[in-house]
Amino acid sequence: MKVLVATDKPFAKIAVDGIRKEIEAAGYELALLEKYGEKAKLLEAVKDADAIIIRSDVIDAEVLDAAKELKIVVRAGAGYDNVDLEAATAHNVCVMNTPGQNSNAVAELAFGLMVMAVRNMYNGASGTELKGKKLGIHAYGNVGRNVARIAKGFGMDIYAYDAYCPKEVIEADGVKAVASTEELYATCNIVSLHIPATPETKNSINYDLVDKMPKNGLLVNTARKEVINEADLLRLMNDRPDLEYVTDIMPVHHAEFADHFPGRYFSTPKKMGAQTAEANINAGIAAARQIVGFLKDGCEKFRVNK
Ligand code: 3PG
Repeated sequence: MKVLVATDKPFAKIAVDGIRKEIEAAGYELALLEKYGEKAKLLEAVKDADAIIIRSDVIDAEVLDAAKELKIVVRAGAGYDNVDLEAATAHNVCVMNTPGQNSNAVAELAFGLMVMAVRNMYNGASGTELKGKKLGIHAYGNVGRNVARIAKGFGMDIYAYDAYCPKEVIEADGVKAVASTEELYATCNIVSLHIPATPETKNSINYDLVDKMPKNGLLVNTARKEVINEADLLRLMNDRPDLEYVTDIMPVHHAEFADHFPGRYFSTPKKMGAQTAEANINAGIAAARQIVGFLKDGCEKFRVNK
């Protein structure tokens, strides 16, 4: 059996070594395709793969067609919007993710972005502090919970909204559960996004919603660029010179944001929330173990497609 690690954005070497150990201990072969750039290289590499470990790499119908031996794809990470789940089901391929394994890394980066924003992008001018500010956590999943834990250390006043998480679960963490996204944005000085990209959430962060934020509101995005309605946010930041946007996922309209809003906008050059050795080890090894469990024992825990 051949397990392919196909990561355009590679894991740390220590994580790849750990994945190799798991795969070889199970008697399988490991193939590595990193920084491949062009899809053609991925199409070639998947031809004889029985299993694939990916990150944000796109697995669509064309890739699945080319992967004649494929039985399982594990997205080493949380969001699986990069995998065509229906096509995978049609190809009889199991798709899994590794929930929670990289969430602390993403949560820590959200605070890196927040501190940078409230300190005026480190330009030396007097900024403000996170302590005492109202933080809104938009979606209370694995990353959202880590954000809440870290926010307590900063002395923030913490609010959260999650359509799928019971109020009691949020409040058990000492976080105030609000009744709607509108209430979250209207209440909080800083909103940190932790929603997945789904048909319901795409473009959902729009003019009217962000406009509810109080003066000097800060929007932090370590989730997905697709959830932002970029045209709306450009228009709103133009109408409201007090608003700031910091993101780990470069917008399609990055140049316009950077040109129009210097000092109020920042994007990392390449998504790096989960880019730590610890997150790579946790997610990569979890992915390898899930593949071994699936191939040897048929274990389908963490399956996300039908
Ligand atoms: C995730 O969904 O797990 C995060 O967005 C990290 O994605 P990455 O593996 O592409 O860095």
